[in-house]
Amino acid sequence: MSARAGFTVAIDGPAAAGKGTVSRAVAGHFGFAHLDTGLLYRAVARRMLDAGGGYDAGRAEAIAAALEPADLDRGDLRTAEVAQAASRVAAVPQVRAALLEFQRAFAARAGGAVLDGRDIGTVICPEADVKLFVTASDAVRAGRRFRELTEKGFDTDFDTVLADLRARDARDADRIDAPLKPAGDALLLDTSEMSIEQAVAAAIAAVEARLTG
Ligand code: DC
Repeated sequence: MSARAGFTVAIDGPAAAGKGTVSRAVAGHFGFAHLDTGLLYRAVARRMLDAGGGYDAGRAEAIAAALEPADLDRGDLRTAEVAQAASRVAAVPQVRAALLEFQRAFAARAGGAVLDGRDIGTVICPEADVKLFVTASDAVRAGRRFRELTEKGFDTDFDTVLADLRARDARDADRIDAPLKPAGDALLLDTSEMSIEQAVAAAIAAVEARLTG
């Protein structure tokens, strides 16, 4: 079934809740384009870390304004260091403002789009056709992230991963501008007790219902 131009699926949630997996699967199933918006903030953070000199809101804003598509393709965006720095630059309103139009244009593209992040259903695409808020318990999320990191060869332990995750969630949820929270009309998907297949099936069913309803 083909979606009308601008059909948008907004998938938000805290770190390691499974929204990336669900988003990719939904996009693949319906032939929609997919944007992992966390990569935008990670790319800004990566360039800031590369430049040295520590964290600076003004510098983060300048980097965000000059971000290029190739920055999102870097292979070194998924480290714990970049995740924490991304959460810090994401709290800068000017950084968020600099990245807003790119995300809205992506959402409006022909053929449908899935965007995942923290503020897609609340700020970037408040009119999204489908909104999901994917979550899971802290322990489950930390367990998933821990396995992911160790499989990639990172030397870490569960407690460190859990503490990092909680620190990042707190920063993402407590910031003034576009904090992490479910949109009022989002469907909540708690994946704590779900397999990947079950979570994906629930998300696909929600989109299907909107496309056919
Ligand atoms: O989804 P992620 O873990 O790759 O995101 C990295 C950080 O980027 C996250 O801690 C907060 C920020 N972020 C955001 O503020 N808004 C988004 N739409 C996506 C990510």
